[in-house]
Amino acid sequence: MKTIWITGGSSGIGFASAKKFLDENWRVIISSKNNERLEKAKSLLIKESKNKEIYAIKCDIINKKEVENSIKKIINEISNIDIALLNAAAYSPNKSQEFNIENYELLIDVNLKGTLYCIDILKEYMTKNNGGHIALVSSPVGYRGLPTAGAYGLTKAGLINLAESLFFDFKKLKIKISVINPGFIQTNSTNLNAFPMPFIKSAEFAANKIYLGLVKSYKFEIIFPKFFLFILKIGRILPYKLYFYLVSKITKL
Ligand SMILES: NC(=O)c1ccc[n+]([C@@H]2O[C@H](COP(=O)([O-])OP(=O)(O)OC[C@H]3O[C@@H](n4cnc5c(N)ncnc54)[C@H](OP(=O)(O)O)[C@@H]3O)[C@@H](O)[C@H]2O)c1
Repeated sequence: MKTIWITGGSSGIGFASAKKFLDENWRVIISSKNNERLEKAKSLLIKESKNKEIYAIKCDIINKKEVENSIKKIINEISNIDIALLNAAAYSPNKSQEFNIENYELLIDVNLKGTLYCIDILKEYMTKNNGGHIALVSSPVGYRGLPTAGAYGLTKAGLINLAESLFFDFKKLKIKISVINPGFIQTNSTNLNAFPMPFIKSAEFAANKIYLGLVKSYKFEIIFPKFFLFILKIGRILPYKLYFYLVSKITKL
């Protein structure tokens, strides 16, 4: 039986992915920073799935030592890690275009530094283990700068760039890298958004696409829903003048 470790597995995309991998007969370890929510998620997964190979290990990824101890605990007490789905993130949309340094610090600490702490320990362990697969959950918000999304966008742009670098650097270590860029998915995070979210999909839809892209046929970039992401990818190559004009027009900002 193969094993996946999912950070941010207590809700949303992480939780739905845990359910999908359990249903596909994987051993699943979920982590998050809030132990109460994590244990509730584990109980729900036990109730909803025939496969009972589900474990919960509290891990606040902001805390480097906790990340190291959690990964050690998984490896020593539960199982090898075949796939690490680094999905945990903080999301706090700016209500306006005001520059809020605390928001920037929080998102950099969780989304960037926290993810890097996980990669650092996983790299050491997967190298010894002769390989593995690390998947970073980013966002198409990282493709280009968008109004009111400076803090979140810079962390997600950083993760996309990081994944591209690691694709090359970890090849010789036999560690596969994937980056997952979902469109709008209905979760606690997107419930905070006050703007329209075109082509929004369920967390179960996202989990299915993640499973297919990680397991059925390896993909470096996993994107969904395809049509929305196609439009965003065109936006990525527009010259600045046209890009700024179109985004200002569409967002009225
Ligand atoms: N929903 C979308 O439309 C969308 C689109 C593109 C990308 N994404 C990305 O998809 C991923 C999952 O997002 P979601 O929408 O499913 O959000 P969500 O339901 O709010 O889930 C976020 C998860 O991250 C965990 N988390 C937050 N801070 C943490 C920390 N310091 N240490 C460990 N775990 C922490 C939360 O656990 P606690 O319960 O402990 O707080 C929760 O399990 C994120 O990387 C997000 O950026 C989402």
